[in-house]
Amino acid sequence: MTESITITDNRTGASMEIPIQNGGVSELDWQKLLPGIWFYDPGFVGTAACESAITYLDGEQGILRYRGYPIEQLAEQSTYLDVAYLLINGELPTPTQFDEWCHEVTYHTFIHENLRKRFLDGFHYDAHPMGMLVSALAALSTFYMDAKDIFNPEARNKQILRLIAKMPTLAAAAYRFSRGMPFVYPDNALGFTANFLSMMWKVAEPRFEPDPVLVRALDVLFILHADHEQNCSTTAMRTVGSSHADPYSATAAAAAALYGPRHGGANEAVIRMLTSIGSLDNVDAFIASVKAGETRLQGFGHRVYKSYDPRARIIKRTADEVFAVTGKNPLLDIALKLEETALSDEYFTSRRLYPNVDFYSGLIYQAMGFPLEMFPVLFAIPRTSGWLAHWVELLEQDSRIARPRQLYVGEEKRDFVPISRRH
Ligand code: ACO
Repeated sequence: MTESITITDNRTGASMEIPIQNGGVSELDWQKLLPGIWFYDPGFVGTAACESAITYLDGEQGILRYRGYPIEQLAEQSTYLDVAYLLINGELPTPTQFDEWCHEVTYHTFIHENLRKRFLDGFHYDAHPMGMLVSALAALSTFYMDAKDIFNPEARNKQILRLIAKMPTLAAAAYRFSRGMPFVYPDNALGFTANFLSMMWKVAEPRFEPDPVLVRALDVLFILHADHEQNCSTTAMRTVGSSHADPYSATAAAAAALYGPRHGGANEAVIRMLTSIGSLDNVDAFIASVKAGETRLQGFGHRVYKSYDPRARIIKRTADEVFAVTGKNPLLDIALKLEETALSDEYFTSRRLYPNVDFYSGLIYQAMGFPLEMFPVLFAIPRTSGWLAHWVELLEQDSRIARPRQLYVGEEKRDFVPISRRH
């Protein structure tokens, strides 16, 4: 079988053979035959904007791998910091590399006092923590003069460490501010995830001791959310990064993309949906309203997965472990009945709609005590390592600035009308 396609321009009869490489065809070849004819592809559904060696995703089969390692094995045996190192460096760290990496991350968790006292304290008392996080990330770029030195590997690694390490501190600071609670400084004796929980929940005790089951569960959620190839926020990271902006500004842009309800806000929508359904008796009526097109079953369906999201399977197990500690989230039974009903209904199966990662993640966060507005923040903490892995890959690929084409559908040329002659 020839691994190529042939295209013919029916206007001229000219044709050209284009090789299929890595499952795609090059637009540069296409342009040789058809200059000025663009692919119309809103949402980039069928356009690969880059080559990437970070995450493999097969939506038909429900496969997700980071740097070749199956997500199931990573969730079972790895830790978030191990995975973050893997994503960024391409290989799992040796024990020495891992110790050094954890040490470095631990010693970069503090934020400049001006950022906390003047910048974060300047927000309105009820500011949304995700809005605060997006702004604080952009503000970080002004604290590090070497941030713009993006082609200096040493400076670049420094910003990567700072960003990964400071995300939990910024996230917890935003939460504490929104509750009128004092800021908790990082505790270097705690691991990455335990330290985050300490900064979130510590009150007056000398040392906050988080439940190890909850620490591990949150760490698993961080692993599952660390990367997901070219999603909306990673695309924002790559787009801004392609202009050679500093990584703080690019990460702020990525976090802003994650703020949207279609992306990082879906698990919040799931909780709102489950709360509004309210009881098992209302599930059938709710499913009927989804089928009538009146609403969507939140946490179901995915642009890429057309089978069970492998992360949802892992999360369901994690949920059981968390509920054994926190007590069952009362919304769980409604979620389980919704899932069971939908998976045996032709409307959902024919459209290949299955639970995605967000169907259960919100239930876990809620059981752990996180308020809804922290959900996108919890997503942004681990996704930062994925964004940065893509940013490094982009810079090393010497990619071109992101600049898509458009199909113009506006007015033809027309002459300006002075305001006195407009009716
Ligand atoms: N409930 C009911 N019907 C749905 C749902 C849903 N959740 N999702 C898709 N459909 C239906 C659509 O109505 C459409 O039906 P039709 O062909 O009869 O018109 C068909 O399935 C295809 O849907 P699209 O909107 O074309 O699918 P798309 O790939 O554009 O959307 C999306 C994917 C946005 C995730 C969608 O499934 C959705 O809105 N899901 C609910 C929100 C959600 O859970 N988002 C989280 C995504 S995961 C993440 O960001 C981490």
